[in-house]
Amino acid sequence: MNRSEKTQEQLSRNKDQLYLEEVPLQQIANTVGTPCYVYSRAGMEKRWHAFDRAFSQRQHLVCYAVKACSNLAVLNVLASLGSGFDIVSAGELTRTIRAAGDPAKIVFSGVGKQREEIEQALKCGILCFNVESLDEIYLLEAVAQTVGKPAPIAARINFNIHVDTHNYLSTGRHTDKFGVSPQQAVELCRYAHRSRWLSLRGIACHIGSQLTQLAAFTQVCQALSDFATQLAEEGLSINHIDVGGGLGIDYPDSEPAPTPEHYIACLLKAIPNHSYKIIVEPGRAIIGPAGLLLSRVLHLKTSGQHHFAVVDAAMNDLLRPALYQANHAVCQVQTKQSLPPQTYDVVGPVCESGDVLARQQQLSVAAGDLLAILTCGAYGFSMASHYNSRPLPAEVLVDGQRFDVIRQRESIDDLISKESIPTTNSDRRGS
Ligand code: LLP
Repeated sequence: MNRSEKTQEQLSRNKDQLYLEEVPLQQIANTVGTPCYVYSRAGMEKRWHAFDRAFSQRQHLVCYAVKACSNLAVLNVLASLGSGFDIVSAGELTRTIRAAGDPAKIVFSGVGKQREEIEQALKCGILCFNVESLDEIYLLEAVAQTVGKPAPIAARINFNIHVDTHNYLSTGRHTDKFGVSPQQAVELCRYAHRSRWLSLRGIACHIGSQLTQLAAFTQVCQALSDFATQLAEEGLSINHIDVGGGLGIDYPDSEPAPTPEHYIACLLKAIPNHSYKIIVEPGRAIIGPAGLLLSRVLHLKTSGQHHFAVVDAAMNDLLRPALYQANHAVCQVQTKQSLPPQTYDVVGPVCESGDVLARQQQLSVAAGDLLAILTCGAYGFSMASHYNSRPLPAEVLVDGQRFDVIRQRESIDDLISKESIPTTNSDRRGS
């Protein structure tokens, strides 16, 4: 196992075969086909427990960020551990409830919550709405009054903190659309405190994703802690502080990510007051290293000095490399001593030059061989699309010696089933 392979939870090599937990990946590919996302149950459980245990005696709730990977089976595994959930839409709410997630452990973030979504969440009895604007608080109040149930809220604060991550993954600067300024947050909290239809529960923040340094995160935790003290001095009491998600994981080009234990230790130190329940919203750090994408080599081709391995997964299945220039390690599911290694760009069949899943990979492969694209459990399937009219891939959950298909591969009929041709199209023929 090389360094990248070790970053994948529950991956091992026995003789020339790659295993996830006790299942040979080749067996999954042969049964389910490719491309196919595969998740390790033990892997995600281990990562979730790492967060949960690190809090020791402090009151806390680990709310898995559903957007990272929202398959019902994945949510259900986490729900059975007692996890909470961070959601951003009615779709994620519905999934979480179907997967037996406890509504009383759901926080609802996002800048564009709609009336119907708010109503559904309120009726379900979620823990809290993380409010991202003054407009939103008025809408929440109006909906709460209609439903006849006060809306629990937390103010999501934007402290204008810069983090060292991809530009698209930064969410805590004033130029990012998220949260409200500390001044507006005070107003928002005062308003909620006065309103009969709003119940002030907490304050929240989320500064960005794939954080590999903890300085900015620690700074924001301290800012939240100070803000809570300031509110208390005004007689505005809160129950919880939600620090968001964002802990990074090890990708081939990233600096080593802090462990969940280290991350939680920093936050607990920065928020010394034990009377607040601490909420964290990790997504990537739980499911990222627990999932991989299986793909088969379709063709090898050479253009000048450049070698390409064309595989059956593409940017529509895994968008991260094309969108964020993300680097995912690729490894062979079966090692082949007989073939000389060659440096390949691993590319998909989509008609865009940006459809490169991984560049400059040393592989000994032939057409028909299987590859595993590593640590893409987070924001892999959940960002997949139908681009180029490609059906969405299958998803599989491995648990010890067994594996289950947790999402069937789509058919082409599935893909076009919601489309229709207006009858007037034929009337216009020849006109
Ligand atoms: N909480 C909030 C309010 C968020 O917006 C996010 C992620 C999370 C928690 C979870 O963050 P995590 O622990 O996963 O870093 N598609 C991108 C990542 C976008 C993250 C968006 N917000 C990617 O593939 O890297």
